[in-house]
Amino acid sequence: MISEQEAIGLLKKYEVPEHIIKHCRAVTKAALEIAEKNKDRNPDFEKIKIAALLHDIGRVKTLRGTPTEEFGDNRHERHSVEILKKEGLDEIAEIVSKHGFMLADYKPEDLTIEEKILVVADSIAKDQGRITPNDRWRRIENKYTKTGDEVALKQFERSISTYFTIVDELGIERGD
Ligand SMILES: [Fe+2]
Repeated sequence: MISEQEAIGLLKKYEVPEHIIKHCRAVTKAALEIAEKNKDRNPDFEKIKIAALLHDIGRVKTLRGTPTEEFGDNRHERHSVEILKKEGLDEIAEIVSKHGFMLADYKPEDLTIEEKILVVADSIAKDQGRITPNDRWRRIENKYTKTGDEVALKQFERSISTYFTIVDELGIERGD
């Protein structure tokens, strides 16, 4: 497994913006905390750390607004997976391939403990502190209702039951 420094080096190599790197660090912190809470299930802490640091490495292309034909839906997740595979980090690519919009295609039992932890950490981490799963969900709903992004909204609606099942399983409070 690559080191934390090497992971940060990759984020720089792909010119991931500073605020995304900040987000990745916050997700890493949350992920390691959730892993600690679920230690009895033997999560791989190193894998979780590197996957959390690199899960949004593809957000650069999305942010620049240059979706390719291949990533025509302008979602960053697939681009992250592509970069990680290109860098020979297949195991990390696998974990990252089920987060965010991609979760809609999976059931809870399809995910490893590391994958579950990344999904939930990504959703509750903020640069400072945390947001509850229920709050996160409302924000996503509001955002895509406002922007009229029906594809995104449908994708999130499709993942809601898997998401909350995982949240409960990991012992994270849903919030109000
Ligand atoms: Fe993220």
